[in-house]
Amino acid sequence: MNRIVAKRWLAPSVACLEVEAPLTARKRQAGQFVILRVTEEGERIPITIAGSNPEAGTITLVVQQVGKTTHDLCALEPGQYLKDLVGPLGQPTHIERWGTVVAVAGGVGAAVILPIAAALQAAGNQVQTILGARSQDLLILEDELGAVSEKLWITTDDGSRGEHGLVTAPLERLLKAGPVGHVVAAGPLPMMRAVCEATRPYGVPTVVSLNPVMVDGTGMCGGCRVTVGGEVKYACVDGPEFDGHQVDFDELRARLAIYRDKEEISRGRRCQSQMQPVR
Ligand code: FAD
Ligand code: NAD
Ligand code: FES
Repeated sequence: MNRIVAKRWLAPSVACLEVEAPLTARKRQAGQFVILRVTEEGERIPITIAGSNPEAGTITLVVQQVGKTTHDLCALEPGQYLKDLVGPLGQPTHIERWGTVVAVAGGVGAAVILPIAAALQAAGNQVQTILGARSQDLLILEDELGAVSEKLWITTDDGSRGEHGLVTAPLERLLKAGPVGHVVAAGPLPMMRAVCEATRPYGVPTVVSLNPVMVDGTGMCGGCRVTVGGEVKYACVDGPEFDGHQVDFDELRARLAIYRDKEEISRGRRCQSQMQPVR
């Protein structure tokens, strides 16, 4: 059982939870995640460790409500408990001194980019961070990202804040201005794919943090299978970060949709008779 120590809302459907997990707080590195259950009967879901306080024995989780488990998680209040949590899981981010690094965060992907940008900056890189959201009220972790970046670029799809447009617009400008030694991106799949297509002509190594469905987190169930450079990888143990220029994004998009009917039923939005067969 892990106690919720604090909670605040970062956006209308995005909560930030401080959770007691002393061993995880001491061991975790940038790029790693936990797998947790809210209740005994509940699903196990992966959530990135956005930060930690080893002295207090807590980790920070930033959670976007998208389905049943994330809604249940965000409904917890300080003093209540998670059923269980395992981690840190996954490979830590590979950090080198590349010079200028561009870190691209789309929506709640900001929670993934924050610890990575902090580690890149601590290693002596000049971190240019791009933070994009659909609108101003969905921009999260702006101050925190600004504190670990040489410069923070803000975009919104509707122009309500920062530059009007997608994260790829400032990225294109930074790539043209060059030199950029390394790019890292986290966010929705189409965004990560677009970032990779933007960097490919420049030959800039680009790492993406993938978000396949995960179950056991041990490399045994195959749930998180992805294809990278023609090879099968398991994101829970080999990732979640991979060379974006080698990722088979079409396969990942199809695999993420496999359980859509079941997920919608678990949220009570559709009845069993409306289910499509799962291929
Ligand atoms: P479901 O009912 O299972 O799904 C609802 C909707 O979300 C469906 O449209 C479904 O296709 C989509 N969905 C389900 N799982 C995923 C997924 N893994 N990625 C993208 N879409 C999905 N979310 C956060 O809010 N904060 C994080 O820090 C975070 N870190 C993650 C780290 C890793 C390594 C991975 C693999 C995923 C991470 N996610 C994070 C995504 C999170 O695990 C899913 O949103 C969650 O499992 C959905 O569960 P649910 O029961 O609420 O929704
Ligand atoms: P969103 O759909 O609001 O998009 C955020 C931003 O991404 C947009 O404002 C835009 O700037 C950019 N973007 C989106 N599509 C783009 C495209 N085709 N080309 C260029 N830029 C594009 O994001 P959200 O609703 O906050 O969803 C966040 C996503 O991140 C979810 O799919 C979630 O599952 C995923 N996620 C990923 C990880 C990970 O480990 N990579 C962790 C947590 C969440
Ligand atoms: Fe089961 Fe990765 S989650 S193999």
